[in-house]
Amino acid sequence: MGESTNITWHDSEVTKRDRQQLHGHKSATLWFTGLSGSGKSTISVELEKSLFEHKKHVFRLDGDNVRHGLNKNLGFSPEDRQENIRRIGEVSKLMVDAGLITITAFIYPYREDRDNVRAMLDDDEFIEIYTKCSVEECERRDPKGLYKKARTGEIPEFTGISAPYEEPRNPEITIDTEQLDVKDAVTQILNYLEEHQYI
Ligand code: ADX
Repeated sequence: MGESTNITWHDSEVTKRDRQQLHGHKSATLWFTGLSGSGKSTISVELEKSLFEHKKHVFRLDGDNVRHGLNKNLGFSPEDRQENIRRIGEVSKLMVDAGLITITAFIYPYREDRDNVRAMLDDDEFIEIYTKCSVEECERRDPKGLYKKARTGEIPEFTGISAPYEEPRNPEITIDTEQLDVKDAVTQILNYLEEHQYI
């Protein structure tokens, strides 16, 4: 891939803080990570709805959806997953600059890739949310029938089966989706956001 040269950064007259003030809340990225079928999409959809109903400016980026467009040309090799997360990181950074609470729900299997995005954002702008669920339980749920295909080899490099998932070491929030239902998971996240004065 080529590289841009002879480019200059131009600052805006309207800052991120100005936008946050207008919206009446901080902006940050709620960065879901977890196995396929662990509950990322379901919880993030309900969380977005709940924040929106509370009049917060929120936008959600979902793995499968983004792979229909922006990241259509990427597959599931470690390199492509790295580029996938890099682009999402840059997009969420723009959204945080725009004053939005940004929710991203992707597998993000590699710790180093997640930490690279954390480093792109200010300290309090990256909230890692781990939807913790065993591979056995995700495979039992198998909402899209993908684990079955992974077991037969129809899908290669499938996370948790034939490709790795590296658990987060210090996520801001861990949600045990084998114990909590969706409503309680959303409440746990909203409580965190209130306690830490995001909203
Ligand atoms: S990530 O690893 O690069 O973060 P991402 O979240 O964008 O993955 O996409 C995961 C979604 O793609 C899964 O929910 C599933 O529907 C689909 N998928 C297709 N092939 C694979 C695969 N080999 N591994 C994981 N997910 C896959």
